[in-house]
Amino acid sequence: MSASPVLPSSPAGSPSAGSPSAPGPSQAELLDFVRHVAADAELVASLPIDPEGRTWVRLDGPGGSEAWLIGWPPGTGTGWHDHGKSLGAFMTAAGELRENSLAVRLPTDGWKTLELNAGVDRERRLTAGAGRAFGRYHVHEVLNESPVRHAVSVHAYYPPLPLMRRYSRSGQTLRLEQVERPADWQ
Ligand SMILES: [Fe+2]
Repeated sequence: MSASPVLPSSPAGSPSAGSPSAPGPSQAELLDFVRHVAADAELVASLPIDPEGRTWVRLDGPGGSEAWLIGWPPGTGTGWHDHGKSLGAFMTAAGELRENSLAVRLPTDGWKTLELNAGVDRERRLTAGAGRAFGRYHVHEVLNESPVRHAVSVHAYYPPLPLMRRYSRSGQTLRLEQVERPADWQ
């Protein structure tokens, strides 16, 4: 797959990754971190697994970033969402995940529904040891499509997520459903 995960406004490794006054970790550094954690078999195995739902453990990410180890039972997924102005990286540590993403930057505010152009969809299948970094306003959904196998992944975001926008999708129509704040998921 040749889809570029990086939008022109946020090149990989850009020193502008954080706020202008205090540059934080770059996409490349976050990707290095999640790769390192995903290779730590003992840490990955320490994640409690629940066959009924996702599980997670918070990690100390580099440079003040927010990081998580997440367990995905078969058939679970996130739904479409973005990460606001945070950039990030994630990597599969066990099992296989699928990422559906949009190769366009959406207007950030002022819309409730948006018609996506044809050809903006990207799909990745991420087996253990495979991952990606992403820039600000990246829109995606992550799923464990396996009918039988649990998956585990490692995620890091910088700055720590101030919000996530949740979307529903019907065909090419994307609809903003909800804006979640940290209090909603911690
Ligand atoms: Fe995400």
